[in-house]
Amino acid sequence: MIHRRVQGATVPALGLGTWELRGDECTRAVEHALALGYRHIDTAQGYDNESEVGAGLRRSGVPRDEVFLTTKVRPRHFRHDDLLQSTEASLAALGVEHVDLLLLHWPNPEVPLEETLLALHEARERGMARHVGVSNFTPSLLLRSLAAGPTLTDQVEYHPFLGQGKLLALAEAHDLLITAYSPIARGRVLADPTLRAIGERHGKGPAQVALRWLLQQPRVVAIPKAASPDNQATNLDVFDFELDDEEMRRVFGLARGERLVDDPAVDWED
Ligand SMILES: NC(=O)c1ccc[n+]([C@@H]2O[C@H](COP(=O)([O-])OP(=O)(O)OC[C@H]3O[C@@H](n4cnc5c(N)ncnc54)[C@H](OP(=O)(O)O)[C@@H]3O)[C@@H](O)[C@H]2O)c1
Repeated sequence: MIHRRVQGATVPALGLGTWELRGDECTRAVEHALALGYRHIDTAQGYDNESEVGAGLRRSGVPRDEVFLTTKVRPRHFRHDDLLQSTEASLAALGVEHVDLLLLHWPNPEVPLEETLLALHEARERGMARHVGVSNFTPSLLLRSLAAGPTLTDQVEYHPFLGQGKLLALAEAHDLLITAYSPIARGRVLADPTLRAIGERHGKGPAQVALRWLLQQPRVVAIPKAASPDNQATNLDVFDFELDDEEMRRVFGLARGERLVDDPAVDWED
């Protein structure tokens, strides 16, 4: 496992996404991932699976302090008191005393951002979260978050078919991480001839090439979701090979603005 060290945090660079994992399938997936060696789990209030994620964590027997656990606050809970109460509810559902990272899930123009950020930092100061950050924040919104206090990451869609140059430059300038969600483009990378050809040179598959390309970018963390034990194992098996500069350039060259999670009201370049 590669770890990122920023702002006093140590973050395993590969985590397990849990969107759309529900009920016992979710608990089993989390338990299995931890048994395989994953030490970073991503959930959200909006995934309706926090209690199942917590159950998987407990069932795995892996000590709580060895797992980097992220949850995200629903935009409808962005008013000050509501954010704090909903975070308490998340901790209760997860069965933990704190999360390692608490994110604002998606900008909510109906609540003043500074009010929400104040509450988010209060949650951190009260010990509910070790670190805080944002998700789906454009460059200008990210700068407002940084002005309000330490921001560990902006979790955004990032895979070979969607570049994130502006946010990566901000991450470098302000010492934060970019967390890549949908890192294998929900399976779309599997058919890509360039990723397949590069993979063949290393005895790896296209999803592994996409993940390795992300992990070779020093500011990036990736959280592929996999319910299947085989896919979980495949995605973790990316630490024994390296893409050379030319291969890295070829994968960067696949960017074509393909966004799988969108909101027409958001200007992503802003
Ligand atoms: N902040 C946000 O707004 C936001 C938005 C979207 C996602 N996320 C987070 O990011 C995580 C990952 O993104 P995602 O779930 O959208 O997409 P993803 O991780 O790119 O793709 C997940 C899909 O790919 C399949 N898969 C995984 N590994 C594979 C492999 N090695 N070979 C073939 N297929 C494979 C999975 O199948 P199986 O499950 O059947 O194994 C699943 O159908 C989410 O779960 C969530 O935690 C955050």
